[in-house]
Amino acid sequence: MRVRAHAALDAFNTFHVPAQCRYLVTLEQPDDVPVFLDDARFANLPRLILGGGSNVLFVADYPGVVMHIALPGWKWLDDLGDDRLLRVGAGEGWHAVVRRSVESGHGGLENLSLIPGRVGAAPVQNIGAYGVELKDRFESLQAIDLNDGAERMFSRDDCQFAYRHSRFKAEPGRWLIASVVLRLPKRWEPRLDYPGVEAVLAGKAATPARVSDAIVAIRREKLPDPADIGNAGSFFKNPIVSAKRHDELKACCPDMPGFILADGRVKLSAAWLIERCGLRGLRDGDAGVYPGHALVLVNHGRASGADLWRLATRVRATVAERFEVLLEPEPLIVPNAMPSQMSSHGHR
Ligand code: EPU
Repeated sequence: MRVRAHAALDAFNTFHVPAQCRYLVTLEQPDDVPVFLDDARFANLPRLILGGGSNVLFVADYPGVVMHIALPGWKWLDDLGDDRLLRVGAGEGWHAVVRRSVESGHGGLENLSLIPGRVGAAPVQNIGAYGVELKDRFESLQAIDLNDGAERMFSRDDCQFAYRHSRFKAEPGRWLIASVVLRLPKRWEPRLDYPGVEAVLAGKAATPARVSDAIVAIRREKLPDPADIGNAGSFFKNPIVSAKRHDELKACCPDMPGFILADGRVKLSAAWLIERCGLRGLRDGDAGVYPGHALVLVNHGRASGADLWRLATRVRATVAERFEVLLEPEPLIVPNAMPSQMSSHGHR
């Protein structure tokens, strides 16, 4: 376990905004967890669990302990019927795991290529892209309850996965995810139905590695690389509205994209709504709406988290006024800028 007091978090968030925390604790092996829990310095401070820092916006300094999870691990387990099981440590890079699996010929994760962040964060927000969500490839995970140090196994149902959501997102600071077991089909079938994916393959036979390459190419073309320009991917979730509300919206905007869900509700495109308000490419100082994709907020250089949050608030207000649809941020806003997060940060 490594402990730094009053540590800078600039390198621990992909927006690259300046922020400090009271303590930054890096956990490198499972045995570090009980040591951490017994350490009196951290006992009464709020906690934030951080993987790659790719889904967080620091709007101010964090007065508590940031736990940086660096737990390694990669192991094929015994097969389960028609599926292979792969256990990976929470601290492994997500994309590295995807590449290692597809390059060894195992399909299943390729549509989730190039998503930034670590393995432990993947179930928290049920990462998803190009027609596949983590829950589709998930078997179980091992987590530690930071309230009492007890280990617990979570099945898929236990995790309460939904679009960009899980029970872990609702309880930040409580569950330290240590490892995740992925379930990969032995009889692989490519998922090429998301618009544009098949075209990038250009007629070549689909293999897991080729589909991964295609997804990487699509993402690189559309989305900014956090190494070049600070961002956290989609800043807003695609809003879900009732069928009735969708009919009303369609009546005034017939070209509005909408994806009908199994329960009859409709998922709208947040990017489209933002773009239609004329906000794509908007800048307020160094905080901006990415010119290439309206769903991504970017730090053009020296924006602070507060600058980005001000811009996000303006985008939300504009969309709400024009369409009466409320956009919810996808990243965690720290400390606690969203009303729904007010009571959920973990104190022991
Ligand atoms: N669109 C616009 N303006 C834009 C960009 C897109 O109007 O600037 C419209 C287009 O009509 C397009 C539609 O929005 O057809 C959907 O765009 P896109 O295919 O890029 O998908 P998205 O709904 O904006 C979601 C995920 C992405 C994921 C892609 C592909 C969310 C919040 N975002 O974006 O996830 O890569 O689908 O599956 O669900 C992320 O979470 O960080 C992320 C990048």
